[in-house]
This record gives sequence, structure tokens and C-alpha cells, in this order.
Amino acid sequence: MKWFLSQSLGILLAAALTVAGGCADKPQNSPQSKSSGQKSGDAKNLAVKPVDTKPVPSKPAVDEKKMSVTQEAYGKLPDGTQIDQFTLCNPNGLKVKIINYGAIVTAVETPDRNGKIENITLYRDSLADYMEMKGGKPTTPYFGATIGRYGNRIAKGQFTLEGKEYKLAVNNGPNTLHGGLKGFDKVVWKAEPVKTADTVGVVFTYTSPDGEEGYPGTLQAKVTYSLTDKDELKMDYEATTDKATVVNLTNHNYWNLAGAGSGDVLKHEVTLNADRFLPVDSTLIPLGRLDTVKGTAMDFTAAKTIGKDMAQVEGGYDHCYVLSRKDDGLSLAARVTEPTSGRVMEVYTTQPAIQFYGGNFLDGTIRGGGKAYEKHNGFCLETQHYPDSPNQKDFPTTLLKPGETFKQSTVHKFSVQK
Ligand code: BGC
Repeated sequence: MKWFLSQSLGILLAAALTVAGGCADKPQNSPQSKSSGQKSGDAKNLAVKPVDTKPVPSKPAVDEKKMSVTQEAYGKLPDGTQIDQFTLCNPNGLKVKIINYGAIVTAVETPDRNGKIENITLYRDSLADYMEMKGGKPTTPYFGATIGRYGNRIAKGQFTLEGKEYKLAVNNGPNTLHGGLKGFDKVVWKAEPVKTADTVGVVFTYTSPDGEEGYPGTLQAKVTYSLTDKDELKMDYEATTDKATVVNLTNHNYWNLAGAGSGDVLKHEVTLNADRFLPVDSTLIPLGRLDTVKGTAMDFTAAKTIGKDMAQVEGGYDHCYVLSRKDDGLSLAARVTEPTSGRVMEVYTTQPAIQFYGGNFLDGTIRGGGKAYEKHNGFCLETQHYPDSPNQKDFPTTLLKPGETFKQSTVHKFSVQK
């Protein structure tokens, strides 16, 4: 009931926000918006129709110059629960779409240097695709998802906290990856659209029960995704607990600045503000030491294509880089440029590290927009704490105690170079 009320309020608010602003939809990755036969009373109808009785114009009667957030039905879970998609637009043509299943970013549409708009984050075509399982395993490797409680790996799915041993759901060889079998990427989040003078966004909240996937404490998690009029996608994370626990929240977009499905990302030029990285064992658990990148294929302190030295890195890039930070505030972690489109993405974060993953495990078996995602067709820059911190006493702590609030922010700034 409470959930229903908050959803209804959200829908009404979205309707109000849509009337106040809005942007035309060039349908991409909006399964429900493609169908004309919407049932009366569904989220889309409420969201896009003003409360008068005029017919919906073929082009939305909205002011393209304003920021907008809209809400529409996206799909249904097997138990009938409706999942919605929220679309954030800014006056410069940027559009971000997020669903409340897994708080998954399903689209980030930005212009290239000629003004051509493309979705630059890998996506699937429907909720069923995002939820698809084969051989008991999900087929979509966390595309666009919000990751929790603990992003990255925890060795052997166990740790000791305040003298007590906890055993987690193991889902990646001998280890726990990205929260376990049913991490935050596979749960339904409550969603509330929000709008300020220069941002539009959605506040997603999820209460993770004590013991979920083996983690101690009831965790109240909150992530706000917002789009600014300065072409930034902001991700603000917060969490509180009623028992000591460990937290490492992040987002798992796979980027391809030339457009999702356009091929490999090996010609993207990457700079990372990191002169050290964490070497790992064969199961990708950090060995515990911090190695210098200097003179190695791991060095991205100066702009270099992903492909340049990749062959020298066994398995490809899938490493946590320790950010060279001056203070606790937002600071530049990564800059990526793509020569053909001219698109540039800068990542700023308050987090201590960034996982640079080169899409090594993509193998062409899953598709989006009619295209297969082959090896290295996307890369991830996951801002986070170090992997396996609960078992590594020299790593910055990921402990969260009752009365404390976990807070981290990451900003992706999009632009083009001529
Ligand atoms: C990990 C990879 C993993 C990928 C998708 C990344 O965060 O570092 O090893 O394959 O997520 O599961």
C-alpha cells in the first residue's frame, strides 16, 4: 500500500513535471512507448497527458528549452509488478533513461561533434532481456546497473566483522561479486522524480533487509541520478544501517562513446588520475599491495588508447586503480575521448578508487538494438572503494556503523572536441 501510494505520488509528480518541461522522444530502448495501445490509467498515459481533454499531439507540446523528467511504463515482473522508466532531458539534447528495476541506466544519449545523438551506454531491449537467465546465471553482466551492497569482489564470500564471521552468497568462482546472487541490480527500487532549477533526476531508495545475501544489518540505500543543464550525469549515493556492515555502492555503465553496438572501444583514449593500481590473483582478488603503473601497460596517467598495451595485460584490463586525490571532494578520476565521434567523458568522484574494466567477458551472446555485444565493445569505469576491503586491513575501510551515513558522489561530464 505504502509502495503503491509512493508510486502514485511519483506518477502525479511526473505528470506535473512533464507539463512544465519535457523533450521529444526519439524512441530508443523504450519498449512500452513504442506500443500505441496503452491501457488507460497506466504510468505513460498519466505522465504524458496534461489533465485537460485535448488529444495528445503527435509532437509533444513541451518546451524543448527546459529540463524535464518523465515517467512511463517499461515492463512487468513475472509477479505483475510494474517497472517504470524515467527519462531525464536537458536543453542541449542530452537524455538519460533509468528504470526502477536495479536502478539501471538504460540510455545515455548525447550529441557527437556533428550533433548526432546516440545512446553511448550498452543496453538491452526489454525488462525480460535485463532479467534473462541461462544455466541459472544472468546473461546481462550488470549493464547500467546500480551495484550493492558491495561493488566488486569479496574473497571466498566471507569476512569477519566485530568478531563475527559472515558468509555471503558466492556468485563468481569462489568469490562474491557485486553484492551476490541477487544484488541491488536485481531488486525493485522505489523511485521519486525530482526537479530543481538546473537539474532533473530520480531518487531511488531500497531497504535491504538484515541478512540479505548474507550481509549484516538493515541497509537503507539511496541513489539519486540527476542530469544537469551543464551536461553532467550525477550519481549521489547514501546509506545507513542498524548494525555494523560493509558498503561499496557504484554504477556499472558500459560505455562506448561512438555509440552502443558500434564495435570495439579499443581506439578510445583514456587518462586515469592514478599512479598506482591493485595487482590481483587469478580470481581477480587484490593481492594486498599497491603497485606503481610507471613503465607498465597499466599506465594511463597520460592519454593512451585502450588497445595500445592491452595485449600485455593478461585477460585485459579489469583492475582497480587508486586515485591520486588531494582531498575528499569531487576530483577528476578519468577522461575518455573517442576520435571518430569527438565525444568526451570526464568522471569526477569522491571515491578513493576506480575499477577500469575493458568488457573482456562480453562474447557476442547478448544483444541490444539488434547488435551483438562482442568482446571489448564497452568499457566500465566503476568509481568505488577497493575490492575485498573487508578482508584487507590496510585498505581504506568500507565499514558502516549505526549512526553513520555512507555518502559518495560521482559526476560524468559529457562534451565534444572538434
Ligand atoms: C568486474 C569484472 C566483471 C564485470 C561484470 C566488473 O566490475 O571487474 O570482472 O566481469 O564487472 O560482471
